[in-house]
Amino acid sequence: MDSGLYETIFVRKSVRRYKSTPLSDGLLQDIVEHTRRLEPMLKGIKVEFKLVPGKMIKNLLPVKAPHYFAIFSENKEGYLTNAGFLIQQLDLYLSANGIGSCWLGIAKPAKVLEAASGFKFVIALAFGMPLHSLHRQSKLEFKRKPLEAITNIQGMADLLEAVRFAPSASNSQPWYFTESEGYIHAFCVRPGMIKAIFYAGLNKIDLGIAICHFSIAARHFGKIIEFSDNEKGRANPPPGYYYNVSFKLRDV
Ligand SMILES: Cc1cc2nc3c(=O)[nH]c(=O)nc-3n(C[C@H](O)[C@H](O)[C@H](O)COP(=O)(O)O)c2cc1C
Repeated sequence: MDSGLYETIFVRKSVRRYKSTPLSDGLLQDIVEHTRRLEPMLKGIKVEFKLVPGKMIKNLLPVKAPHYFAIFSENKEGYLTNAGFLIQQLDLYLSANGIGSCWLGIAKPAKVLEAASGFKFVIALAFGMPLHSLHRQSKLEFKRKPLEAITNIQGMADLLEAVRFAPSASNSQPWYFTESEGYIHAFCVRPGMIKAIFYAGLNKIDLGIAICHFSIAARHFGKIIEFSDNEKGRANPPPGYYYNVSFKLRDV
């Protein structure tokens, strides 16, 4: 993953108002090429980043941007969390390079786009030059849960602090992390029946975003994370959460 992403975690924000001027073709091409270098969380799931014009994205909220990515994925186990992990690298990369972006969880692609892709539509990301400030000036400007609301792990505050700042749909921060026998276990909140209609999928994407922040912080401190399934983690979800994945930290 790229340098500069770790620092960006602590200043980034969702940008919802953009200059109407489009980015240059060269810059757009660099960004599209960058999408091919993003590191997946789960290998073997094909993901497609399609640069599409605004008229191909139906967005219920008034975020009007000069550019959009519509992101499609193979529909395999873990694809939503994998997509969150991948796309957040792009969100941070754009922000680190002076470009604003915003995840669009309630946007839908034009039918013809999905038909042409052959994969399942996951989510859209709006981006362009920000009309106002790109970054937050202070960590105090983030509205986030305290560390103890998202983990009971002691002695890993450096890494989990980066998770704490991760963006999520409606800022719900639906993640929880525990540790046993050297494995860190990632859990996702179990939404109620009504919320599940809208949030079940988005929450899985959110968890991938949080794990992406963990991974970037780990790299910053000289570690990489290796994913695996873990019986003990799977068997011990905190009340109200369900198990997603475990990982180990290893020296680079
Ligand atoms: C999966 C996902 C979906 C989101 N969908 C929308 C959306 O449809 N419209 C919007 O304005 N913001 C959307 N957001 C942005 C969140 O509201 C935002 O990340 C959260 O409130 C935290 O604020 P911050 O990103 O400025 O730190 C989404 C974020 C995520 C991660």
